[in-house]
Amino acid sequence: MPTSIARRTTEDDITTEVLRRFEATADPRLREIMLALVRHLHDFVKAVNLTEDEWLAAIRFLSETGRLCDDKRQEFILLSDTLGVSMVVDLINHRELEGATESTVFGPFHREGAPEMPTGGNIAPRDADGVPTIITGRVLDLNAHPIGGAALDVWQVDSSGLYDSQYADSDQLHMRGVFHTDGDGRYTIRTVRPVYYAIPSDGPVGRMLRATNRHAWRPAHVHFVVSADGYEPVTTHIFDDADPYLDSDAVFAVKDSLICHFVRHDESDDASRQFALDPPFYTVEFDFVLKKVGLT
Ligand SMILES: [Fe+2]
Repeated sequence: MPTSIARRTTEDDITTEVLRRFEATADPRLREIMLALVRHLHDFVKAVNLTEDEWLAAIRFLSETGRLCDDKRQEFILLSDTLGVSMVVDLINHRELEGATESTVFGPFHREGAPEMPTGGNIAPRDADGVPTIITGRVLDLNAHPIGGAALDVWQVDSSGLYDSQYADSDQLHMRGVFHTDGDGRYTIRTVRPVYYAIPSDGPVGRMLRATNRHAWRPAHVHFVVSADGYEPVTTHIFDDADPYLDSDAVFAVKDSLICHFVRHDESDDASRQFALDPPFYTVEFDFVLKKVGLT
């Protein structure tokens, strides 16, 4: 028998050999990502001396995370959000704002097909317990000129702290709508005051939070994707400045520039007449600023 060539069998040999196999990747960006992924993943496994039981637990954790994903639930986005990865991706991709509205996480609860709403349309028609709230403002360019015809895709939890997709009749859309600005760049949305809520904790992400002594609460917010022809869209939230979880958001998504004051109206006033609302209700104002496409 010929003498066999020594195989690569040490921990570091394997890393070297795996990196070598990816060396010929034609796409330079894919090559960069795969080489870095292997380096960091192997370093991580070696740094913690991962046991075989822990490796299997990780495989089961990720498998279950995948099994829980469908068109109404996205456990992988939740995992990315709770590990802070979503916010790191957000921050490195939006370094050059130049005065445009700051972005934040997309989250796992956006749904396609939200109804087109008129100015002042109510996205919370079935929420009898929530306190009516009017969100108004403008969509502007970097020079404070109004952008007419901008679209605002809006979604939030109801006053029970749940998204429509978390109910038994989850095919019913609620607490969602697509609004458009008028010629002055103005929009008006009727909803209920957002509440703080716990992210879904009945899956692997919830188990991770409990095992690591972390809470699942997100501060009260309303989600927006604001877009207009010729401008970079922004995926963001507005937050309630009275919320107790602003400093410990389970998904690390709070930015100071997105925190708003919700004004309470307990008596009839100009706002109640303007929006045809009986007190008590809240109003909140927020202007979105978009940057032209290609502006760096
Ligand atoms: Fe949310």
